[in-house]
Amino acid sequence: MRTRLRMLIAAVVLVSMVLSASGAHYHTHRHHRLEDVALTEETDVRAQRNKRSTNGDDDKNALMLADAPDDSGPLQPVGDPSDLPTCLLCVCLTGSVYCEEVDPDMTSVPTLPKETNYLYARYNKIKKITAKDFGDIVTLKRIDFTGNIISEIEDGAFAKLTMLEELSLAENQLAKLPMLPAKLTAFNANHNKLKTKGVKANAFKKLNKLLHLYLAHNELEAVPLIPETVRTLHLQNNNISTVSTDTFCKSNDTYYIRPNMNEIRMDGNPINLGQYPNSFICLQSLPIGRYQ
Ligand SMILES: *[C@@H]1O[C@H](CO)[C@@H](O)[C@H](O)[C@H]1NC(C)=O
Ligand SMILES: *[C@@H]1O[C@H](CO)[C@@H](O)[C@H](O)[C@H]1NC(C)=O
Repeated sequence: MRTRLRMLIAAVVLVSMVLSASGAHYHTHRHHRLEDVALTEETDVRAQRNKRSTNGDDDKNALMLADAPDDSGPLQPVGDPSDLPTCLLCVCLTGSVYCEEVDPDMTSVPTLPKETNYLYARYNKIKKITAKDFGDIVTLKRIDFTGNIISEIEDGAFAKLTMLEELSLAENQLAKLPMLPAKLTAFNANHNKLKTKGVKANAFKKLNKLLHLYLAHNELEAVPLIPETVRTLHLQNNNISTVSTDTFCKSNDTYYIRPNMNEIRMDGNPINLGQYPNSFICLQSLPIGRYQ
């Protein structure tokens, strides 16, 4: 799997080097392909991504890439020369930094070129994320730390990233979550060691743009407060043994219909969902899980 990713990235870079002479629209094409390589979640995010490529977000990327001078070549580092070490270890394309399975081992977050929008740092040995790591890189829109060994994140680490929309911390060693920035649309912490006391009940409450929340394969014993915007919620393979009427619905409003939620996974938890009929009456479809 890792070798395949590495070969795919190498192939994409190679193809793009060949094509880069032929004009800016190839940059756009290349960007899409690299995006495919760096998927943040299972199939749902793939669907989401496909959907997104038909709306404005990628057009902005296309513009940004088209603005790059034609003679800059695909592997030129962005920003000043102090960025060089990161862009020698990693692949820097305009606005994006790809540090996947870096050799020698990458154990901390690399210094990022100014104006970085996308950071893909999957499958490294990063242990800790500090409040200084992103410093003034407030331009970040997507960060992917899937498959590291992160066990600690300082609380302010992501707080200043007001443009951050997608964050993946999947496949790490986290027992608790830091404060999350308000504009997140997708957050993935699947396959960690999250405990209920490390995920404050209000951890997601203020994220009023959140659409996809992945917390599967952890040690949670309760469902945190889920904002009304959320469409996909993955909680499978945790240790949740009970839910209440107010977990998803409103006990004081029997006419309430939860508008957006269309996928809840609760399979692999020690809960018989059949015992809580009133907890799901406001939903348009029942959670996936055990009913007897
Ligand atoms: C699961 O939760 C129960 C309490 O509901 C607790 O006794 C048990 O230790 C938990 N198991 C794990 C693996 O955390
Ligand atoms: C239901 O309770 C919430 C607080 O728990 C309150 O804000 C809301 O106004 C109540 N709604 C009704 C219909 O009583």
